[in-house]
Amino acid sequence: MVQSGNWWKEGIVYQIYPRSFNDTTGNGVGDIRGIIEKLDYIKSIGVNIIWLNPVYESPNDDNGYDISDYQNIMSEFGTMDDFDELLAGLHARGLKLVMDLVVNHSSDEHEWFQQSKSSRENKYRDYYHWWPAEKGIPPKRWSYFDVESNAWKYDEQTDAYYLHYFSVKQPDLKWENPDMRNDVYTMMKFWFDKGVDGFRMDVIPFISKDTTYPELAADAKPEDFVAFYANGPKLHTYLKEMNDEVLSKYDVMTVGEAPGIAVENALDFVDEERKELNMFFHFDLMSLDRDPDEVFTMNKNGWKLSEFKKIHTIWDQAFANKGWGSMYLSNHDFPRSVSRWGNDHPDFWRNSATLLHTFLLTMRGTPYFYFGDEIGMTNIRFESIEEYRDINTINKYKQLKSQGKDLEAFIENEKEAARDNARTPMQWDETEYAGFSTSKPWIQINKNYLNGVSVSTQEKDPYSVLNYFKQMTAVRKANKALIYGEYQIIDETHEQIYAYTRTLNDERFLVLLNFSTESSVFTLPSSVNYNATKLIISNDRVKDDKTYKEFLLLPYQALVYKLL
Ligand code: NOJ
Repeated sequence: MVQSGNWWKEGIVYQIYPRSFNDTTGNGVGDIRGIIEKLDYIKSIGVNIIWLNPVYESPNDDNGYDISDYQNIMSEFGTMDDFDELLAGLHARGLKLVMDLVVNHSSDEHEWFQQSKSSRENKYRDYYHWWPAEKGIPPKRWSYFDVESNAWKYDEQTDAYYLHYFSVKQPDLKWENPDMRNDVYTMMKFWFDKGVDGFRMDVIPFISKDTTYPELAADAKPEDFVAFYANGPKLHTYLKEMNDEVLSKYDVMTVGEAPGIAVENALDFVDEERKELNMFFHFDLMSLDRDPDEVFTMNKNGWKLSEFKKIHTIWDQAFANKGWGSMYLSNHDFPRSVSRWGNDHPDFWRNSATLLHTFLLTMRGTPYFYFGDEIGMTNIRFESIEEYRDINTINKYKQLKSQGKDLEAFIENEKEAARDNARTPMQWDETEYAGFSTSKPWIQINKNYLNGVSVSTQEKDPYSVLNYFKQMTAVRKANKALIYGEYQIIDETHEQIYAYTRTLNDERFLVLLNFSTESSVFTLPSSVNYNATKLIISNDRVKDDKTYKEFLLLPYQALVYKLL
């Protein structure tokens, strides 16, 4: 039976990092009018839900994830009128808009924090986590973006420490305070009343903390952060309350960013009956190629396809009967997907980029693409620290430098791991600055905009990554079985080929993906019963094989068949 058809289940998400999408003012920074200018393009590629990274007023310590005014637009990006026009333009084209909700922390320049730090008696004091200095040094907590990895910052004005799990300019909001929660709910309603269609919720499991701040175990490591930071005791109470007070009153979509949430706890968030969230992003895949002890360090041994398959199979099963998954391979916090999960060598770039499109668009769960994936944008791999803009890389570098660590090795690591790899400007055409801006952009453009990685060249080429993307989004939308169908993996241990079927009632699709640089023949086991195959799409030449049993896959070839 087809599950109820929610628009966010059937939609295809396209994430826009506004700073890097399209600059219409010529200052080297993308803006909202730049997105408006590209609405027809967005519509043309077949996506229908836009997730916009933060566009709120912000001093940009962490590129907008440090919000100083939740109900105003960052002046660099435009005005509220521009925003309203964007929303109307999207809706006029049948597209939805999902905003970023960043409420684990605000900017230290937010009025709430300014008030909070002004005196211990201030009515906003309890909007943040303070530790009075007379109690001594607070128990150790780590911070991601702090040069000393210290999440407590001493503030002289009131002789107390405040908590910041991210940079010193991102103090954590105190969800234990009902007044603070109410203010957040009012702010959410403000956006929903404008017609916004949903929120992606930044580090949502972090909002609930153990506010007794117990001492960490003696052998605790920064990598154990999840045990201390995420999934606090009141998390589900707050999410239920938010749903009750706000979300339930609108037809909106919610997706939580959920580092540290294990598959066993998945349904606690998205089981429809619990009335919390619709979907969340798990991090199991995002740590697959990382050092198990260091989330930002690449694992020297790489990753295995069997592990990649296992993660997706386990997570598919988690939502087989209840809840709903979200499928992503990249976003603004990770390197480019083709460089990471595919192969951006010129021999394999096209096929591997289109193979990854095929994968996301044939799995169950809502697929999320990051801008530029549709043209196969790749990692920029900066050679020196001066080229980086991201606080994460810059502060980590400072830290390693002060510790006398190997900085060359770090720069090498960042070529594959850094977030800035995915934050370079959109490559629209082959003119100067890739059609993104008329002046030098805030971060360098990847030079391969001159070698085929641009919208204008790919629009002209029927065989391009972009044109394949368009065909593939159409294939998904035309086939409910690819959205709701049961997923069945074939040969879990194969290290080259990922093969699975998707079945809905009497419709069945077979997906074959060669995740390798070698050709391979895949033989379907006899357990998969069918009489004939009909090719739906392929990203490369197909050998006409009338045996219907053996399939030749060229390097990074993707094949989707209908089984008859
Ligand atoms: C997750 C966001 O995606 C990331 O970009 C940001 O730096 C942190 N949360 C802090 O808000």
